[in-house]
Amino acid sequence: MTDQSGEHRGRMTKDGIRIHEAADFAGMLKAGQVSAQILDEVAELVEVGQTTAALDAFIERRAGELGSKSATIGYKGYQHASCISVNHVVCHGIPGEKKLKDGDILNIDVTVIVDGWFGDTSRMYVAGKLGRKAERLIEVTHEALFKGIEAVKPGNTFGDIGHAIQTYVEGHRMGVVRDFCGHGLGTVFHAPPNVLHYGRAGTGPVLEEGMFFTIEPMVNLGRPETKVLADDWTAVTRDKSLSAQFEHSIGVTATGCEIFTLSPTGKFHPTY
Ligand code: MF3
Ligand code: CO
Ligand code: CO
Repeated sequence: MTDQSGEHRGRMTKDGIRIHEAADFAGMLKAGQVSAQILDEVAELVEVGQTTAALDAFIERRAGELGSKSATIGYKGYQHASCISVNHVVCHGIPGEKKLKDGDILNIDVTVIVDGWFGDTSRMYVAGKLGRKAERLIEVTHEALFKGIEAVKPGNTFGDIGHAIQTYVEGHRMGVVRDFCGHGLGTVFHAPPNVLHYGRAGTGPVLEEGMFFTIEPMVNLGRPETKVLADDWTAVTRDKSLSAQFEHSIGVTATGCEIFTLSPTGKFHPTY
């Protein structure tokens, strides 16, 4: 069987969501672990005075050395191995020559391809001393991702994931971004469904064993609205408030889910 994406694996639900085979989990884990290892390693380079271009150059080099290919270089014209989103940048920040300042918070998002499988993960870093408000934002965003992950098991719905995240974030008086979402992935970068980080319990497609997708909530200290800058990539908060994001690639198992992008050295969260 072949579908629009040219894939030949597993089957497809009526919503166009691929159901992968048991053997495919190993491919995703390998790719996920390479992306997570790169995020572990780049932590050593995040410091005041460092440029985001230098972080990206390191990521590109390590991706090659670890036997993977960057999924983002050449993707829709994007030219870098990572997105690096500093302070009020919500996502898709373009690495550049601007130096990190004391207290800057940044999300680094890396996607690699290993043996055809995509590993997509992002987490938060701090240059210098982490401020109190930024720390709270990072804490809530990290926890929000795991509230979403806890809602993943066969029989639950994608709406349950969004609902868990939104309820948690808004309970802390922060804003959950609507303009960007998680996505199916596997042997393609972005596939159905759109994984919304807000929504109503019990709505949306039903989760089935073998679905692979990301959960990647973006949380703002202020309002949820974003705008994209003239470079056509950089998304920022409209109210200039700080924004944070964490992302894991996961696969639905019989009883819950497997996280493919867990840190091999137990990092991920910047403050513990
Ligand atoms: N890794 C991002 C995601 O989580 C996508 C980045 S696409 C790029 O889906 F072209 F901006 F790199
Ligand atoms: Co993603
Ligand atoms: Co990503």
